Amino acid sequence: MLSPLSPIVHIAGARPNFPKAAPVIAALTARCIPQVLVHTGQHYDEQLSEVFLRQLGLPEPDVNLGVGSGSHAQQTAAVMVGLEPLLRDLDPALVVVYGDVNSTLAASLVAAKLLVPVAHVEAGLRSFDVTMPEEINRRLTDQLCELLFVTSPEAIGYLAREGVDVGRIHFVGNPMIDTLLANLHRFDAEAARRSLGLPERYAVATLHRPSNVDSPESAADLVHALHEIADEVDLVIPLHPRGRAVLEEVGLRRHPRIHVQDPVGYVEFISLVRGAVVVLTDSGGVQEETTVLGVPCLTMRPNTERPITITHGTNQLVTTGELVRVFKKVLQGAGKEERQVPPLWDGRAGPRIAGVIVEWLEQRANKEAHLRDLELFSTGSAPISKIAQDRGDGVPGR
Ligand code: UD1
Ligand code: UDP
Repeated sequence: MLSPLSPIVHIAGARPNFPKAAPVIAALTARCIPQVLVHTGQHYDEQLSEVFLRQLGLPEPDVNLGVGSGSHAQQTAAVMVGLEPLLRDLDPALVVVYGDVNSTLAASLVAAKLLVPVAHVEAGLRSFDVTMPEEINRRLTDQLCELLFVTSPEAIGYLAREGVDVGRIHFVGNPMIDTLLANLHRFDAEAARRSLGLPERYAVATLHRPSNVDSPESAADLVHALHEIADEVDLVIPLHPRGRAVLEEVGLRRHPRIHVQDPVGYVEFISLVRGAVVVLTDSGGVQEETTVLGVPCLTMRPNTERPITITHGTNQLVTTGELVRVFKKVLQGAGKEERQVPPLWDGRAGPRIAGVIVEWLEQRANKEAHLRDLELFSTGSAPISKIAQDRGDGVPGR
């Protein structure tokens, strides 16, 4: 019933997209749905891109747009310009976008204007902080989507308040957690610790939010706090390229117990996280992963679009000024004793998403077949669209 010529096109481009896309692609593959994977090239370093494809068993991307880095406008525009002719050629049944990066919004805009339906995986997250570029990407993407897959119940209310038809919203759980649970057996904390020569007690930090790493002033305050933390425990920092120059300029490495690394692969990273006494981060995904692993997480941000990691998980928000004090409390065991895994973070989000998509494709195909029948019935011979075409009238869009 589904046209084999109309694939589902997945758009991924930045590090956090890959662990979200992997279980969705796998679940659709299991249902024999034709798919195309487009890598926008937003991230291009081996350790931010290729290593994820390899470790998560993703297919080699069918196309890489190679957009690279640039300002927001340059990067968003480059994805749009690269994607438009490709989507025209592919004529997808559905485009699937992930998360909140520039590639996500760019792809949604192109698809929506070509009247190609869009599905958003991880819809409805809100930090209500418009100084975050991701918040703009999230809000606009959600306005353009036909199918909205949410990871957390509060997202349903946020979307409804923004006027999204609730019939389009599907609470399916968290595909990033599917990836985490599917790979649990590969996360060897002890091996990761030894390979970096770390003592038994260590902490992990990741940093890449513009508000923390772009200005030397904020970066210097943060580095000062991280040095105080390293007075207590060894601190390993697989450092995102975004902040490297500024953080090093303000002296990040000038402490013997701070171990700055290049970003590490997914398996190595989660292995390190699993064995850490505390994780310090400004990442979105890491807040979720620590919640499921039960590792205390201090999020160095004033807000989070993932409040369920605070209400159910191990996460706490901290300002730079509070960081050392809160860290010491957590180290003394004053973290949360009670922890619940958020609802539906059970490793089955990918199959749920695939189920909704397949049903949606079938309903759409049935509707189209029904319309074709009606056209034949009403004209007795040729479809209305064909008659209109022959007469030179405008042919109705899809
Ligand atoms: C992007 C996302 C952010 C996400 C993060 C995940 C946007 C607006 N931001 O931020 O939401 O949390 O990815 O990691 O989409 N660079 C490299 N090598 C690379 C890629 C980038 O060196 O492979 C450097 C470049 O100097 C670049 C800078 O990192 O200018 C920032 O990259 P960019 O993709 O613009 O944003 P991120 O900070 O990575
Ligand atoms: N991650 C990784 N190696 C690292 C740092 C992070 O594999 O050195 C993984 C992490 O486990 C999570 C994803 O990258 O799955 C999160 O990406 P990031 O923090 O860059 O983006 P965000 O989630 O903030 O958008």
